[in-house]
Amino acid sequence: MHNHSAGSLSFSSHPATDPSRPVIRPATGKDADQIWGLVTSYAAEGLMLPRTLEQVAMRIDSYVVASVGSRIVACAALEEYSPSLAEVSSVAVAKSEHGNGLGTQVVLGVERLARARDVGELFALSLTDTFFLSMDYTPASISRYPEKLARYEALRAEGVEIVPKPCFQKMLGESWQLLQLVADDDANSAVPARRAS
Ligand SMILES: CC(C)(COP(=O)(O)OP(=O)(O)OC[C@H]1O[C@@H](n2cnc3c(N)ncnc32)[C@H](O)[C@@H]1OP(=O)(O)O)[C@@H](O)C(=O)NCCC(=O)NCCS
Repeated sequence: MHNHSAGSLSFSSHPATDPSRPVIRPATGKDADQIWGLVTSYAAEGLMLPRTLEQVAMRIDSYVVASVGSRIVACAALEEYSPSLAEVSSVAVAKSEHGNGLGTQVVLGVERLARARDVGELFALSLTDTFFLSMDYTPASISRYPEKLARYEALRAEGVEIVPKPCFQKMLGESWQLLQLVADDDANSAVPARRAS
C-alpha cells in the first residue's frame, strides 16, 4: 500500500468568495460523522455498501467532500486494492443538492487523489450508469476485478445484501502521462536557450 502522507492531496485553498458556494476539499477527521450519515442514508436504500463510523474515520484521508460552511453536502472515496488499482466508492450527494454537479466534482477530486497516489486504474459500480459515463468511464465487466468479487463474498458471508450493479472503468495513466509531457514541455520551453559561444 502507499505511503499516504506522500500521496496526500492539496486542493486549492482559495476561500470561496460566496460562503453559500460548495468547496471541494479532502475530508478531515471532523467530517467523519456527516460522511457516515450521508453514506448510511443511501446504504439503507441499497444504493451503496454500508460503512461503520469507525471505517469512515479510519480511512478519512481517502475521502473527498463538498462542504457548504460546516455542512457536508457530498462525498466520495478512493478505495485502494493494490498500488495501481482502486475503486471510486461511497459517491453520495445530499438530496437537496442533486443535479448541481457536486457528484462530478467529488469524483474528479478522488481522481486527483488517485493520481497523487500513482493509481493508474479506477473502477466504480453504480446503478446510475449515465453518471460515470458522463465522466469518460467505460462499461467494464466486474470479472476484471477479482479483488472486488472477493470482497463481495466476504461481505455476503457477514450477511450484507449485495445488489449487483453495472461496472465502469477509467485508466488514468495515459492522460496523466500526457499532462505530464505537456507540463515538461512547458517547463523546457521556459528555459532560456543557451547562447551560442
Ligand atoms: C448519483 C449521484 C452521485 C449524482 O450526483 P449529482 O451531483 O446529482 O450528479 P451531477 O450533477 O454531477 O451529474 C452529472 C451527470 O450524471 C448523470 N446523472 C446524475 N444523476 C442522475 C440520475 N439520477 N439519473 C440519471 N443520470 C444522472 C447525468 O448525466 C449528469 O449530467 P447532466 O446534469 O449534464 O445531465 C447522486 O444522485 C446520488 O448521490 N445518488 C445516490 C447515491 C448513489 O446512488 N451513489 C452510487 C454511486 S454513483
